[in-house]
Amino acid sequence: MRAPGDKSVSHRALMFGALALGETTVSGLLEGEDVLCTAAALRALGAEVVHEKDGGIWRVRGFGVGGGREPSDVLDLGNSGTAARLLSGILASQPFTSFMTGDASLRSRPMQRVIEPLQRMGARFVACEGGRMPLAIVGTDEMVPIEYRLPVASAQVKSAILLAGLNTAGETTVIEPQATRDHTERMLRHFGAEVRVAPAEGGGKRITVVGWPELLGRNIVVPGDPSSAAFAVVAACIRPGSDVLVENVGLNPLRAGLYTTLKEMGADIVLENARDVGGEPVADLHVKGGGLKGVDVPPERAPSMIDEYPILAVAAACAQGTTRMLGLAELRAKESDRLASVAAGLTANGVRHEMGADNLVVHGTGAPPPGGGLVKTHLDHRIAMSFLVLGLGSRDGVSIDDGSPIDTSFPGFAKVMAELGATIEAP
Ligand code: S3P
Repeated sequence: MRAPGDKSVSHRALMFGALALGETTVSGLLEGEDVLCTAAALRALGAEVVHEKDGGIWRVRGFGVGGGREPSDVLDLGNSGTAARLLSGILASQPFTSFMTGDASLRSRPMQRVIEPLQRMGARFVACEGGRMPLAIVGTDEMVPIEYRLPVASAQVKSAILLAGLNTAGETTVIEPQATRDHTERMLRHFGAEVRVAPAEGGGKRITVVGWPELLGRNIVVPGDPSSAAFAVVAACIRPGSDVLVENVGLNPLRAGLYTTLKEMGADIVLENARDVGGEPVADLHVKGGGLKGVDVPPERAPSMIDEYPILAVAAACAQGTTRMLGLAELRAKESDRLASVAAGLTANGVRHEMGADNLVVHGTGAPPPGGGLVKTHLDHRIAMSFLVLGLGSRDGVSIDDGSPIDTSFPGFAKVMAELGATIEAP
């Protein structure tokens, strides 16, 4: 199979194309619902975003840094936290008011983490109880640059501040104690911004963007998404006798923690055809099934595999022995409370485990878990796909209550899995 386009890179390619002058072309874009929400929001701000059906290329004609127009309606960002947080940074630094909302999942997610630094820079926000969406952003083009130490390891918060810093005079700096995915830094540079990265005092990184760059349209090739590839890779790992080649997997070191962990568990994964796609490391993964063992996953690895714990829990359930996953507090702020969703799904399918405030311990027996349960997905695509994969490794199969969230990040998932030999039945 071929991994679908990377969601994080796809959002950024469209957004940065909108902030650039001239034309940006994007190939390999993820055409999932989350990214389509970003495309619609950018159109509402005045960018031309066109999908050329023939070659699958997307073209963006940007409005330039600070050049967006006031949207005439509420921006509906669906299920997408990345769209909501990154666009907050862009909208905060524009001299007009905009409104944002999303689905029930997105409306329950914390926005205070971006509101707080963007308010310090000069924007105003009106949010619902607990800093949630819907929210109003009263932007300004007289932002002041800040130096901000991230209180949570979040690439979305880092990116929101750096994007606001583009339309701010002077230098805006984010200090991240723990490294998070760096697609924003890599791609902003590619568009012509000055982004400096240096070691921070006491550890971590200082990331500085210089305001008012002239960003110019570029050609972007989106690598395959390691977070989506993970479902097929784990499916192959937990079925002894499998032999699967997953092509086009982005392996940015700040995203690839799951693959390190699977190898430590004894997975047979060989990297083939390692190459560079659009400034990101990419390879094909040749996976053979069987032989997984439980391991301890250290908390410092969490930012590099933050979206992969649900599928790792599935691998752990099918492994021999105990897997301990630590430092998972951020999982509670994802599309659902992922720690609780995973634990409930494991319970429903007879997998022994313990859940703590920020950790999960899964006990595998080496035999297929019983399965037979119905899992609530809570509008969370990764819960939906992870537990379908558990179905493959289980004795009696697994059902999920709602498959519709899958389209946010992996349209065609059921078809791809069927081509690999899985049976996914929809009522
Ligand atoms: C993302 C960052 C992560 C990740 C999300 C995508 C991004 O979120 O969970 O799926 O594209 O920047 P946080 O920044 O909240 O950790």
